[in-house]
Amino acid sequence: MKIGIIGAMDLEIETLTKTEMQSEDIISRAGLRFHVGKLGGVDVVIVKSGVGKVNAAICAQLLIDCFGVTHLLNTGIAGSLDHNINIGDIVVSTDAMQHDMDLTALGFEPGVIPQLGSSGFLKEFTADPSLRAAAVSICREFIPEINVFEGRIVSGDQFICTADQRHRLADSFHALCTEMEGAAIAHTAYVNGVPFVILRAISDKADEEADTAFDTFQQQAAANCAKLVTHLVRNLSQKPPR
Ligand code: ADE
Repeated sequence: MKIGIIGAMDLEIETLTKTEMQSEDIISRAGLRFHVGKLGGVDVVIVKSGVGKVNAAICAQLLIDCFGVTHLLNTGIAGSLDHNINIGDIVVSTDAMQHDMDLTALGFEPGVIPQLGSSGFLKEFTADPSLRAAAVSICREFIPEINVFEGRIVSGDQFICTADQRHRLADSFHALCTEMEGAAIAHTAYVNGVPFVILRAISDKADEEADTAFDTFQQQAAANCAKLVTHLVRNLSQKPPR
């Protein structure tokens, strides 16, 4: 097992790279710095992808092709789309969709990607059931002070901060939170047959105050997610998912 761990921004990976991992090497490709080493005895490659779906997909494909990762884990922060899910809470993906994939003018439902999968189109990318179950139970066991939820995560190249946008994502996609990379990593994982899960801690409510909440709470949210990643990877060294 070799786990590729992707965060979009420095604050989403630096606790892992600076404090938690035993670093063996840093390798640069396509302007990205891949931290190669061990976390809790497991081989990991940790990398900052940069923001947005294209950066995330490039990064995930490089992890698979150049570093031979067998599992992909996306860590970071997100905007909540559900009033029960608050700042600091964690969402573990059941599946992921690209909310800005829009071929509705051609008769497709929002988020549907044509010419993909055995049925000729694909809507959601399903997270690995064992990784997902492990993340939830480890969060409940080792960090019970953090609330954990399971559900759909939607991604798009937009920072969501209005009621209209928020309602569209909640109503059309039934998503629990939104961010800008997870579904692109999920898409890359899917086409390569690599298991993935997305773990996101809430930094804001994707509403009119999202920009200030994001500034205020991003550090705390990222720390919560890093804590879960550390516990999860350590635990996977004892009970590998497959
Ligand atoms: N990441 C954290 N908060 C977000 C938001 N409101 N929209 C998109 N990505 C986010």
